[in-house]
Formats: sequence, C-alpha cells, structure tokens
Amino acid sequence: MGPGFRRDDEFGAMNVSEAFRALRIHNDSTGYHTGIESMQTDDLTPGEVLVKVAYSSINYKDALAGTGKGKILRQFPLNGGIDLAGYVAASTDPKFKEGDQVLCTGCGLSETRDGGYAEYARLESKWTIPLPAGLTLRESMALGTAGFTAALALFQMTRNGQTPEMGPIVVTGATGGVGSLAIDVLTRAGFEAHAITGKLDHFDYLIGLGAHQCIARKELYWGQRPLETAHWAGAIDSVGGDLLSGLTRVIKPYGNIAICGNAGGIELGTTVMPFIIRGLSLLGVGSAGTARDIRDRIWEHLAGDWKPLHLDRIANRDVTLDELPGAFATLLEGGAVGRSVVRIA
Ligand SMILES: NC(=O)c1ccc[n+]([C@@H]2O[C@H](COP(=O)([O-])OP(=O)(O)OC[C@H]3O[C@@H](n4cnc5c(N)ncnc54)[C@H](OP(=O)(O)O)[C@@H]3O)[C@@H](O)[C@H]2O)c1
Repeated sequence: MGPGFRRDDEFGAMNVSEAFRALRIHNDSTGYHTGIESMQTDDLTPGEVLVKVAYSSINYKDALAGTGKGKILRQFPLNGGIDLAGYVAASTDPKFKEGDQVLCTGCGLSETRDGGYAEYARLESKWTIPLPAGLTLRESMALGTAGFTAALALFQMTRNGQTPEMGPIVVTGATGGVGSLAIDVLTRAGFEAHAITGKLDHFDYLIGLGAHQCIARKELYWGQRPLETAHWAGAIDSVGGDLLSGLTRVIKPYGNIAICGNAGGIELGTTVMPFIIRGLSLLGVGSAGTARDIRDRIWEHLAGDWKPLHLDRIANRDVTLDELPGAFATLLEGGAVGRSVVRIA
C-alpha cells in the first residue's frame, strides 16, 4: 500500500510525511462553498483509526451536502463523503493493524466528522468495520450506504414477519442507488421484486437486476378510497410524498413498508384504515445511526446470502474527487441510474 508513514510507538501511532487532497465543505462569511484542498492528517477529526482511503461512493445525501441543497453537515468545515473504505494506516486501538482493510458508512461521516472524499480519514474504532470476507473494497463502496440501507430495510421487514410467500415487494425510486440494490437484494433473498420508476427507458436495466414487473411512476393511479385493491405484500420506498401515501392504501394484510427516503417529498398523507384493517406496518430505516450489532449482521448478509449479483451493472461508474461536483448535479436532477463509486487512491 505504501502510504508513506513513520511508526512512532507500538500501537502504530504514525506521522504522515505528506499532505493529501480532500473535497472540503465550508459555510462561512463567503457563503457555502466546496473545493479540493490540501490537508495534513493532524487537521482531521480525531479518531483511533487512521485510514488511507481507497474508495468512497455518491449517495443522495452526499449530493445534498456537496451542493448545499440540504442541511447535512452539522459543523463546518468538514470533508464530504458519508462512506469510505480503505487500508488502516495507523491505529491506537490494537484491534486494528496497519494494512487491515476496513469500511465505514454513516456514523457521523460528513455530518460531524471528516468523511470519505479525502485521501485520509480518521475513524472511531467502535464504528470501524473490518472488510467482510466475500467483498472487495470496491464492492463495499458499490454497496455503501445505499446497499446498507436496502439490506437494513429488508432486515427490518423480515424481523416484522415479511416472507416471500406473502407476495411481491414493490421498490420505488427503482433506478436509484437504494432502489437498484433493493431489487437485487430482495431477489437474492428469495422475494419477488417489482419496480416503480420515472425512467421508462430503463425497464430493461431493472429487469436485468431481477425485477419481475416495472411500472411507470406517472401511470400510477391509486384511487380515492382509504383502502384500494391490494397489489403488493410490502414496499421499500426511497421516494416519500404522494407515492408513499398511495402505497399505504394498496399493501396486502400484515405487510410492511420500509421508509428509506424522501427523493420525492417529505409529506405522508394517509388514514388509520390501512393500519387498523390490514395491519400495515410502517418501518423507519435510519442507516447512519444503526447500532453496531445490527450493523455487523447487515454487512454479513451483504457479503453473503444477500450479496447482490449485479454490483458491476449497478455501480457502473468510477469518478474522481475532481469529478464529484458534476456527479452531484446529475443525482439531484434524478437523472442518475445505479451508483457511482469514487476512486480515491
Ligand atoms: N434512511 C436512510 O438511512 C437512507 C440511506 C440512503 C438514502 N436515503 C434516502 O433515500 C433516497 C434515495 O437515495 P439514493 O442514494 O438511492 O438516491 P438516488 O440514487 O438519487 O435515487 C433516487 C431515485 O428516486 C427517484 N426520484 C428522484 N427524484 C424523484 C422525484 N422528484 N419524485 C419521485 N421519484 C424521484 C429516481 O428513481 P426513478 O427515476 O427510478 O423513479 C431516483 O433515481 C434519498 O431520499 C436519500 O436521502 C436514506
């Protein structure tokens, strides 16, 4: 790996002999601004594990943070990037040694701590995940927060009684990062996945990931009644707003809707009827603050029995730090298909 370090003590406290590059986000007297800057490891948010970052990824939240279109950072300045994977360069926690491959998603990255859009980052050891056997570093970032969220959604649903025998699960925002990976993960786990998308020209892509049926978002009509004919046994929703509101009325008895995102709006309009007549459950999915024991189980699934079969097709673009601003714009316009991996090293 050759990160250019000098070992200072037996636990691997090391000094970096060179400056490194980072996409740093500011909000100061000159306004909200983002740019590539040169830093030293001493400038990074403290943490036990210094990581030479190899890959990061682009999530909706990264695009909001990188453009200032959403309030993601809770302090300034910080390096962007809510995901990262790389090699341990130094650790004051003996559980990690130089050269170990590790990853981290969420856990304050690009919110309260310097994130993964940088050649180096410091992690808290309690949130540092050893790369699971069965995944490469790049694959772990092809998954990133989006894959973790899709798997966490399914995990919550199955814990609440969802089974493949109950019927198909519909995925909204289907061509997006969470949506694409949800279709693949659901299929791997034995569920029949259906896709709702705004991109009519990407039905083939979705069927290639395993979707049994694709539905154009603009052709959906939910009817007017509090309960309408039930079509699906459950849903993984990353859109919110009217789409989620409509879904609550068309889920079969004792189904679950895992609520992951708000790409289409933050409102939720419904009545008590789906809950008291059909026993519907709405399950909140908050990936960033997931407890460590659940986090470990989700990564185990993602590296094993739920590992998507089409990661290369979904994460079909590698971008550099310099290319991030253009990629943020495409994502926020809803025009991105699948995921982008950020190649740092
Ligand atoms: N809860 C969590 O922990 C968590 C974790 C990750 C992401 N999220 C959230 O989940 C959502 C998706 O994230 P992502 O990274 O997958 O983003 P993404 O790759 O940009 O995917 C979002 C998808 O939603 C659809 N969409 C976009 N704008 C829309 C609109 N105005 N109305 C309806 N659909 C629209 C598009 O899919 P189609 O064109 O196929 O419809 C788009 O590809 C975001 O809201 C994000 O903040 C939450």
